[in-house]
Amino acid sequence: MKHLIAPSLLAADFLHLQKEVEMINQSDADWLHIDVMDGVFVPNISFGFPVLQAVNTVCRKPLDVHLMIAEPQKFVRETADAGAYIMNVHYEACTHLHRTVEAIKEAGMKAAVTLNPHSPISLLEDIVQELDMVLLMSVNPGFGGQAFIEHSVTKTARLKEMILAKGLNTLIEVDGGVNLDTGKRLLDAGANVLVTGNFVFKSPAPLQTIKALKAM
Ligand code: DX5
Ligand code: ZN
Repeated sequence: MKHLIAPSLLAADFLHLQKEVEMINQSDADWLHIDVMDGVFVPNISFGFPVLQAVNTVCRKPLDVHLMIAEPQKFVRETADAGAYIMNVHYEACTHLHRTVEAIKEAGMKAAVTLNPHSPISLLEDIVQELDMVLLMSVNPGFGGQAFIEHSVTKTARLKEMILAKGLNTLIEVDGGVNLDTGKRLLDAGANVLVTGNFVFKSPAPLQTIKALKAM
């Protein structure tokens, strides 16, 4: 399968969101990645469901919603109603993760679990078979534009081994500090989906940048 590119709206110009989403519609991007932060699970607040709903009215790409919030199980319905294609919840935020994953799928979305940089992939041993995707954080969640954590490449390769050993086809998405260099190394290690915020939206020619990321 050709890898997927999911630009992160967090790095977009919030005063011109419609223009930014229309650029994504025209681009070679596969998904639009949406970062919801609550100031509790992560030390920052981004935007919430009303903004997501508004984006959904314009966006023609599937919405990849990354919830960096405490108790994400309380917002499964809101996330589905706002138009999410896939809902990412953090392993570190879910006490009853299996139940939350079931609820996400029952609501008609694809289910993904996200790991912070310090969380070992062994935590997924008894849940990965239920998942459509695992999202590995390659920065500490909360902010765009941070430096890529190198260990993420090895971690991606080890997760790929786990997935293949179990005979699964779970996707691996990686998020944080992705550019052409780190992105290429992640793809070689087995990543399927690359999230990229600043590298796309702050580039002089975002459409060309997305094309280059897709052509790797
Ligand atoms: C970080 C977010 C990321 C972020 C990536 O908390 O989950 O999706 O927007 O931004 P860049 O690509 O700039 O590191
Ligand atoms: Zn994200």
